[in-house]
Parts: sequence; structure tokens; C-alpha cells
Amino acid sequence: MAKTQETLLVTGACGQLGTELTAALAQAYGANRVIATDIRQPQNAAHTFERFEVLDITQGNEMAEFIQKHGITHIYHLAALLSATGEQKPMLAWQVNMQGWLNVLEVSREVGIQQIYFPSSIAAFGADTPRENTPQTTVMNPGTVYGISKYAGELWANYYCHRYGLDVRSLRYPGLISYSTPPGGGTTDYAVDIFYKALETGHYTCFLDAETRLPMMYMPDAIKATLQLMQADQSAIKVRTSYNLTAFSFTPAEIAQAIRQHIPAFEIQYAPDFRQAIADSWPATIDDSQARMDWGWQPDYDLAAMVKDMIANLQQRNSQIMAIV
Ligand code: SER
Repeated sequence: MAKTQETLLVTGACGQLGTELTAALAQAYGANRVIATDIRQPQNAAHTFERFEVLDITQGNEMAEFIQKHGITHIYHLAALLSATGEQKPMLAWQVNMQGWLNVLEVSREVGIQQIYFPSSIAAFGADTPRENTPQTTVMNPGTVYGISKYAGELWANYYCHRYGLDVRSLRYPGLISYSTPPGGGTTDYAVDIFYKALETGHYTCFLDAETRLPMMYMPDAIKATLQLMQADQSAIKVRTSYNLTAFSFTPAEIAQAIRQHIPAFEIQYAPDFRQAIADSWPATIDDSQARMDWGWQPDYDLAAMVKDMIANLQQRNSQIMAIV
């Protein structure tokens, strides 16, 4: 059970993951125990934070003051630039993703933060990694700035855990699919955009080719995994870099086919751009048996269940918007 004096900080709370993880943490620990932060004020109706502050994670001193002022005990550090944006702005991505993370780790060491969460990604793997059933421990050599920052971030997590005893935990998320807030700047984001276009126009032009298989997960499973990992007994956590995690893998052609079960006239075309090379350097399927063994990970959603739920929720939201208009 959550202790009443816990105060949780979430960085990047307005992002695709942050929006839903912050809501889940508020549910689990009490909304007044969770402070949502981001680089700018919330813009989306899905952001109903009880407590929100603007916080720039690249400013270490400001972050340290903030953490002390609010008596933060737990940090969920989600703020980062994703893979496609990172390739367009490599130095900014490194500054935000790496300096931001080191700021979190340093202040956590100084003030004795009890628990820290760091999201890693399939992007930590690279072109030399075995693509099928990618093992927990294998060749990494990420090829994007985002991936380099995530892999380096994992190694720093491991270092701060072993050197300073910080309880840092991490998951290598696959592509995350959700309807509350749109993702921004990722390579797996086509698997979200496709739903909006299917419902709006019945047609989608995909920036990856038809047969690009990538590991994916529906957001409720990502939230479940995160809470499960963070609530697991310390002794169960054997991996202090980051745990492999997956739910299912599919290609653009396969998700299009699954969408056609609900929208029969849906059409897809392919116009691969620079994101194809990024996707080609990532795993197609992931071996997450270590997470299953250590803390009981098991996903609830497969491709068909995810597609059904996404369409139902987006249709419901569209009809609410129509009713208001
Ligand atoms: N979904 C992310 C991206 O595509 C990978 O973690 O950048």
C-alpha cells in the first residue's frame, strides 16, 4: 500500500505516456500526492491534473530546488524527445534526454529520492542486434540519437543503483498505442495516426513500408507494466539497466487488415521516408521472459483487442465532439 507521505514527481506529464501514467499514479497514490510537470502548460482536454507546474529538466539547479520545495520522494522521469524528432535535432535531443536524466539522477542522490522510473525503448537496440525474439542481454549499438540516449540512460541507471544504492527501475517500451493524447515525433507513431485517418478519411499513407514488423503495446498494458514494476519487491528486480517488454508485433499491412475488420473500406498506401531506416534498425519481436519471470509481467491486449478498443474509444470521442458542435 502507498504510504501517505509519498510525493511523486512526473516529468513530461503532458506527453503520450505521461498523460495516462500521471492519471494512473493519481488513482493509485492520491491526486494530491502527484505533481505533474512539463516544459509548457497543458494544452489538451485530457490533462486534468490536480497539481501541475512548469519545469525545465535541463536546468539542474531549478530542478533541485523544485524537488526540495515540494518534498518529492519518487520521480517518474518521462520527459524526452522521441526518435524521429531526435534525428532532426540531434544536439537538442542529447541535451534534453541525457542532461535531463543526469540532473534527475544527481539530485536524487543528493536528496535521497526513494524510487525513480526511467523509460527506455526498443530504440536502445540497433542494426547489429538480433531482430527476432531480441534477448534481454545482447548487442545494442543503437543508431539514433534517441536510442543512444536511452542506452546510455540505462547504463547510468545501473550505475547509480550499484554505486549509490538508488532504486532506479526501467522498461524498454515497444511502440505505444493510445487515444487520449497523440504521440509526438516517434517512428512507431504511424500505428496511432492510422486510426485517426481511418476514421476521418478512410485512407492512410504510411511512412513505413508494408512489411516493417515492430513490437507494440496498448497503453493500458504499458501503464500496468509500469505500476507492476515499481510496486514489485526490491528483491524481485534483477535487471537494473532496463527490462525488455512487449505485447505483440505487427506490420503496417497487418494492422490495416485488423482495422478493416471494423472499417471494411479502409485503404492504406505506403510512402516510406527517413523513418524507414530507423524502424529497420529496431527489433521485430522481443523476448521479455525476464520481466515475466522476475515480477510477473503479462499483457492483456493482443492486436485484435487493441484495434477494437481504439476504434470504439475514438468513435465515442468523435460522437461527443459532434454532439457539442
Ligand atoms: N516509440 C518510440 C519512437 O518511435 C520508440 O520508443 O520513437
